[in-house]
Amino acid sequence: MSNTSLIYRTVGKNKILQINHAKFTAELSLYGAQLLSFKQTEKPPILWCSNSAVLDGTKAIRGGVPICWPWFGPSKDGKAPQHGYARITFWEIANLESNQDSVTILLHPAETIVGTELTLSVRVTLGNNAKIELITQNPTEVSHPITQAIHSYFSVDGIEHTQIPSLSDVEYIDKTQQSKMNTEHQLNVDREIDRVYLFSQPKLELIDSKRSFTISGTNHDSVVVWNPWVEKAQSMADFDSTGYKNMLCIEMANTSPIEIPPSFEFVLSQTFG
Ligand code: BG6
Repeated sequence: MSNTSLIYRTVGKNKILQINHAKFTAELSLYGAQLLSFKQTEKPPILWCSNSAVLDGTKAIRGGVPICWPWFGPSKDGKAPQHGYARITFWEIANLESNQDSVTILLHPAETIVGTELTLSVRVTLGNNAKIELITQNPTEVSHPITQAIHSYFSVDGIEHTQIPSLSDVEYIDKTQQSKMNTEHQLNVDREIDRVYLFSQPKLELIDSKRSFTISGTNHDSVVVWNPWVEKAQSMADFDSTGYKNMLCIEMANTSPIEIPPSFEFVLSQTFG
């Protein structure tokens, strides 16, 4: 038995589930199947969400853990939404299990996700840490490609001092420099950062001026690191003007297309805390 409390609130067309558990508190938006907050008991919040994020189900939510699927970045023809449809789809809870250690929530789309014949389920497991799994299945008879990302916005204290030592000297594609390849000995977030690190190792450490925690992943081909810095943040209506000082996106991703064969299941995951 566990003393988990589950409270729904409605924001416009959206429903947000507040979960209170002995080990953590969290909020999960059914629009986007998006974890919005995760705070382990007696620890600071792990995720960042913009104060001006739109929560009513009319726009992708700026913060927490958006899901980029069935593509990451711009669509092929540039006409469909950036980062795909999963984050702007309404989802429903297919199963929720709770015990004294954790709460596991399985979400299915409540409407068809357009743009692909593949299907996606999202599993969120919250306890001592938080784990997000994107479970892609191919119910068709031919293979289909996807790119994808678990686009976590982490809350950081002192962005200029924030470090990810595992990415030192790792090659990255610099999206702010026409996709030029580069390396940096020590990550230095003092300007806009938009990088695809070619890093498929299972673990990295995020260190800010007050704490450190582990971010791990499975089945990713890269790790995307993003901070919009001043001007880009100001150009986004849903990004607090000084919010860039307190956030860093670190995203387990498959930025190169992967083919999902018929009857196959592919799971991308990210765990943090
Ligand atoms: C990152 C991309 O993953 O997401 C950036 O690498 C992009 O290029 C950022 O700007 C935010 O995207 P969006 O669509 O949520 O504004």
